[in-house]
Amino acid sequence: MREYPGQEKSMIEEFNAFEAIKKRISVRSYSSRPVEETLRRDLEDYIETLGSGPFGITPRFKILALEPLDKKEMRGLGTYGFIKGARLYLLGAVKDAPGAMEDLGYCMEKIILKATSLGLGTCWLGGTFKRAAFARKMSLDTGELLPAITPVGHPVNKTTSADRLTRLAAKSKKRKPWSEVFFGPGGKAPLTDNEAKRYHDPLEAVRLGPSASNRQPWRIIKDEAGKFHLFLKESKLFNRILGKIRLQNLDMGIAMCHFAMVAREQDLPGSWKIDPTAPILTGLQYIATWSE
Ligand SMILES: Cc1cc2nc3c(=O)[nH]c(=O)nc-3n(C[C@H](O)[C@H](O)[C@H](O)COP(=O)(O)O)c2cc1C
Repeated sequence: MREYPGQEKSMIEEFNAFEAIKKRISVRSYSSRPVEETLRRDLEDYIETLGSGPFGITPRFKILALEPLDKKEMRGLGTYGFIKGARLYLLGAVKDAPGAMEDLGYCMEKIILKATSLGLGTCWLGGTFKRAAFARKMSLDTGELLPAITPVGHPVNKTTSADRLTRLAAKSKKRKPWSEVFFGPGGKAPLTDNEAKRYHDPLEAVRLGPSASNRQPWRIIKDEAGKFHLFLKESKLFNRILGKIRLQNLDMGIAMCHFAMVAREQDLPGSWKIDPTAPILTGLQYIATWSE
């Protein structure tokens, strides 16, 4: 494992996060070319440097290699049909606690961006897999949940029609405009370019992020003091259907990861905290505040 003397290890990335964020898409068709041992080791080393997320919870990750050509096993895992050809999976588990979904989303997205920077494809899966079958592979502790997994592999060169169809159904390329997700003080008027200032790229990184069914439930309000308050515009039925596993809270963690990584990359000060002075807004759930 690499060491970075005098700095928190996870503060320094060996890849350009903003570039990876712009490049990443959900890949659902994989080439038969196996992931090289060196790339897999790079990922495993990276996972070891991660530590906890902004709420102080450390998720547990495992890279699972399926036997090649074992179609029966792949069918049993239930990604078959949605995900084609993947033989390597990353599994993310976490103990149920406040902030656990956000921290899992945060840490797992870092691994996904690392994989992207290595030229590998991934696809967040929170719904379309047999959770119990993967949970057995992860040997879950009591109280531990398996909120999400992702295949990891070389994308096929040409996207298949199934891939295109899924992306179309999820309106994958589409993102809401700035005016619908980022707001000025009070949360009423859209955030202007002038108000976003140096935080343009961290905000854009949030907007480009993946989200469950591409619902894009993040809302950010910048107040007069220059703090950025993150809220969840929850689709209650959708978010609560899996019980303790809340896909839209994973989305929040992904958003926090994108904002923090790009802010750090651009030497912008701040970190995510709980701010008791955060505004209270109807229809929006407060998650955290980025401030100095
Ligand atoms: C928490 C989470 C769960 C997801 N679950 C699934 C899933 O079960 N099946 C699937 O095909 N895609 C899933 N996705 C992928 C989204 O549909 C995808 O990120 C979104 O449509 C945007 O497309 P993009 O990732 O190509 O930018 C999930 C994404 C997130 C963030």
